[in-house]
Amino acid sequence: MMMLHTLLAAYLSLSSTALAAPTAVACDRDFLKAQAAAYVAAQAAGKVDTLKASSSVNYTQNFKAATLATGILSTPLKIDGNRSTYDTTQCATYTELISLQSGANHVIGTQMRFTDGELSKMETIVTSTGDWLFNPTNTLKYASQESWTEIPEAKRDTRAVIQAAGDAYLDLFNDKKVKVPWGNPCARLEGGSYVQPSCNVGVPSGIKNINRRYVIDEVFGTVDVFFSFGGNDPDSHEFRVENGKLRSGFLGLLFQVWDTSKLLHEQQL
Ligand SMILES: *[C@@H]1O[C@H](CO)[C@@H](O)[C@H](O)[C@H]1NC(C)=O
Ligand SMILES: *[C@@H]1O[C@H](CO)[C@@H](O)[C@H](O)[C@H]1NC(C)=O
Repeated sequence: MMMLHTLLAAYLSLSSTALAAPTAVACDRDFLKAQAAAYVAAQAAGKVDTLKASSSVNYTQNFKAATLATGILSTPLKIDGNRSTYDTTQCATYTELISLQSGANHVIGTQMRFTDGELSKMETIVTSTGDWLFNPTNTLKYASQESWTEIPEAKRDTRAVIQAAGDAYLDLFNDKKVKVPWGNPCARLEGGSYVQPSCNVGVPSGIKNINRRYVIDEVFGTVDVFFSFGGNDPDSHEFRVENGKLRSGFLGLLFQVWDTSKLLHEQQL
């Protein structure tokens, strides 16, 4: 009996490992790509059923508690631009959507986080007419000129380097002594406003950018940060870092700020 019990216990523990295994392997790049594609399709269709949402999914829209079924996802949108990045370490994605739909044009940034193969947290920033530098035609034009292709494995930066570049930029708003690894050239897309070849212009001071949530993709060299601009306003900055592995101590990063969504005032939706 004892033997049987032990065997049974061993069998149970094996089988629960086997059952748990799909969850563990589920969060690879392909899983995240499929989830981001499902999200884009859901927004295009105005239907949430393609999302593998947990029954307790935590959803916010412009940093306010909301429900998937009644938020922006319930409105079908013509998608004119979309791009996603994949964080396999945190099991998270970031997607930018651009819709030039007449009367309902938007630039949308969304971070999704997955637990055990299900969407457990989703945060969306929806920008619309009247928002900071809102000009989706220009956002699409300049965004589509960027070539944010996969970085060859040998040239990839670490998550820490990528995150530090983004953090340095966001810290600069409150501390002019921060050393930002500026690239040369560097391009900044802020709403529909395109600034280049230097990004080190027009950065305000005395602004605390707090409560940062990151999606980091070493393959694309990107970090997207959701945070509260000046402590209050929903904001997303996405950065691409190239050649961060430096020779002779010179910070030779190509550092681009892709500021998808910046709201200076809270939005009502
Ligand atoms: C959802 O997440 C936010 C943080 O982003 C948190 O403040 C809030 O309490 C969460 N809501 C629930 C119901 O867990
Ligand atoms: C999203 O972008 C991909 C290519 O990056 C494209 O294949 C796909 O059709 C786009 N989806 C929509 C709904 O436009």
